[in-house]
Amino acid sequence: MKIGILGSGVVGQALANGFIKHGYDVMVGTRSPAKLADWKKKAGEKGRVGSFAETAAFGELIVLAAKGTAAKETLKLAGADLLNGKVILDATNPIADAPPEKGVLKYFTSLDQSLMEQLQAAYPKARFVKAFSCIGSAFMVNPDFGEMKPTMFICGIDPAAKKEAGKILTQFGFEVEDLGGAEAARAIEPLAILWCIPGLLRNEWSHAFKLLKS
Ligand SMILES: NC(=O)c1ccc[n+]([C@@H]2O[C@H](COP(=O)([O-])OP(=O)(O)OC[C@H]3O[C@@H](n4cnc5c(N)ncnc54)[C@H](OP(=O)(O)O)[C@@H]3O)[C@@H](O)[C@H]2O)c1
Repeated sequence: MKIGILGSGVVGQALANGFIKHGYDVMVGTRSPAKLADWKKKAGEKGRVGSFAETAAFGELIVLAAKGTAAKETLKLAGADLLNGKVILDATNPIADAPPEKGVLKYFTSLDQSLMEQLQAAYPKARFVKAFSCIGSAFMVNPDFGEMKPTMFICGIDPAAKKEAGKILTQFGFEVEDLGGAEAARAIEPLAILWCIPGLLRNEWSHAFKLLKS
């Protein structure tokens, strides 16, 4: 399967490397392809770089890894026609431009509406699945937590899209917890606030969530 990654920051690059490691063909989308020259060299023939529109055209499955405040603009540049019907793994978090307060990030959304719901409403024919949003980029691909597999919380409106996402997340070393419809992103997105607190307060960034069940 061909993967189009809309976003070229640490998340876009980490996931691109992960998909390549697992044998997928990948294109990373950016407004400035030249800045990915080093990544392209290391990625080899399975890694490509393109505009957001080229990446959306290339990808049979899309990953959204844009800055939260720019997520809508990124999808606009990608083009609705090229996103229609496709699964979009949405790694974004709605982090506001205001600085964190005592280690607590500020979001530009409320607990009554998540960023993913806004994106799903704006692109109703795309099939968004929240994924990869509540763990640091260094732990997105087969993270090593000894015996423990971390949990990846997902949600979205389309069961088949979540099944597709689940297969990828299993390959990437996660236990998958499906929390239901797009509304569940109201709970999943703020997990990134929690995940970042030990980092912002004490420079501790090496952890992941696990849902314990009895
Ligand atoms: N960092 C983490 O460990 C982590 C973990 C989980 C989730 N997340 C979430 O994943 C997303 C990506 O995070 P990141 O740290 O890799 O990088 P980021 O700095 O949040 O985002 C970088 C991407 O956003 C795009 N972008 C920025 N402003 C834009 C604009 N005005 N119009 C269009 N595109 C724009 C950039 O495009 P260009 O390539 O053209 O510059 C770039 O591809 C964020 O939503 C973040 O909250 C991050």
